[in-house]
Amino acid sequence: MKKIVLPMIFIASGSLLSANDINVIKEEAKSAIMKMGKTLKTNMKQNMKAGGAIQATGFCLEKATQIEKKVNSSYPTGVSVKRVSLKYRNPANKPSEDEAKVLKNIQSEYEAKKEIPKMIVKEVSKNSYKVYKPIFINKDICLACHGDDKTRDKEAYKLIKQKYPNDKAVGYKKGDFRGAFVVEIVKNNSK
Ligand code: HEC
Repeated sequence: MKKIVLPMIFIASGSLLSANDINVIKEEAKSAIMKMGKTLKTNMKQNMKAGGAIQATGFCLEKATQIEKKVNSSYPTGVSVKRVSLKYRNPANKPSEDEAKVLKNIQSEYEAKKEIPKMIVKEVSKNSYKVYKPIFINKDICLACHGDDKTRDKEAYKLIKQKYPNDKAVGYKKGDFRGAFVVEIVKNNSK
């Protein structure tokens, strides 16, 4: 069980922060996400090219967590990136309560066909922030592993089900809201 040490009080983005503070935080988050996103994408592409959905799945199942760890260790102290989803496949990507709340908000905005912000900054506590970057099923290729019975690659999905018997990350259509990158930034202002 993950310990929740953060207070559940939710401060709307910007309530205590100046526009400049928010921009600095967003920039930090952006570069952290770029690195993580690029690394995951490059690996996925290479494996898809080399051996299709089956090889890419094998690779994902074995290496996704490792890659995330490695990229995270390259960030400055106090910065980390993860992926979360309301319909998660990897239980490590289950959102915490505060994260689920933000994801649910985005989901209902998506369903209401509203424009989803590129990034959402939440102040978790003093000097501690979470920056959300929504992820969408933006490529047909996502459906091979996250689609419905018709669009999924059956062989690849057998492998996925073996590793994640409680998988929730299916039934998506192109364009659907899938989850988010969450960048946690803790600033040490005590120096
Ligand atoms: C070859 C199969 C495959 C393809 C193609 C694929 N995924 Fe995944 N995806 C997985 C597997 C396996 C996991 C769980 C392992 C992990 O990454 O933590 C996962 C996890 C995720 C997660 C983390 C949340 C969770 O449910 O655990 C997100 C977000 C995600 N995928 C989005 C996408 C998007 C967007 C695309 C298309 C650009 C895509 N995936 C394409 C297999 C795939």
